[in-house]
Amino acid sequence: DQLKVLTICGSLRKNSYNHALVRALPALAPAGMTFTEAPPFDGFPFYNQDIQDASGFPAPVVTFADAVRAADGVIIVTPEYNWTIPGALKNAFDWVSRLKDQPFKDKPVALQSASGGPLGGSRMQYHMRQSLTYLNVFLFGTPEIFVSFAQNKFDKDTLELTDQPTRDIVKTQLAAFGGFIQRVKA
Ligand code: FNR
Repeated sequence: DQLKVLTICGSLRKNSYNHALVRALPALAPAGMTFTEAPPFDGFPFYNQDIQDASGFPAPVVTFADAVRAADGVIIVTPEYNWTIPGALKNAFDWVSRLKDQPFKDKPVALQSASGGPLGGSRMQYHMRQSLTYLNVFLFGTPEIFVSFAQNKFDKDTLELTDQPTRDIVKTQLAAFGGFIQRVKA
């Protein structure tokens, strides 16, 4: 049985460390776990109920929500901005949270973050956990992935994840998350 994991990257920039972390996942995953990157959410308008009332949900919101529904599990890989969730990503959650068939309900979700600082995005992850609890996800616990001082852990040219302890802990998390998805499905 294949486990289909959707990745949602909270950084929009081309040379993002978080996106580099997303690209590192397939090689560190257990057999049978496959990855798809979420459709773009950076074109969503800022959430405004007037838009929803006038014309329903924008097509990219529906596409994004469908991708979440189709996944067995979701891994959110995102930077911390000013100690919390990047605005574009929070806006995406705000949009899909208003859908009738709210796509994150009962969805297994794990978190990862990479940052330039010493805490690796941990403050953001605890805000994210708070928000995801309201969305009624099944939230994966430990091990947590905080890639601190990311500039030292990825190759400067290729952005390949080179730090072995980080590779090891990500591998451990992915194996544990696979088991978690199986238990939630059972
Ligand atoms: C940051 N950065 C940052 N880092 C951190 O550890 N805690 C923080 O609160 C913030 N705040 C913050 C706000 C904004 C607006 C920016 C642009 C950056 C630094 C951040 O960790 C660094 O830029 C990462 O490289 C961003 O992740 P990506 O884009 O490389 O994936």
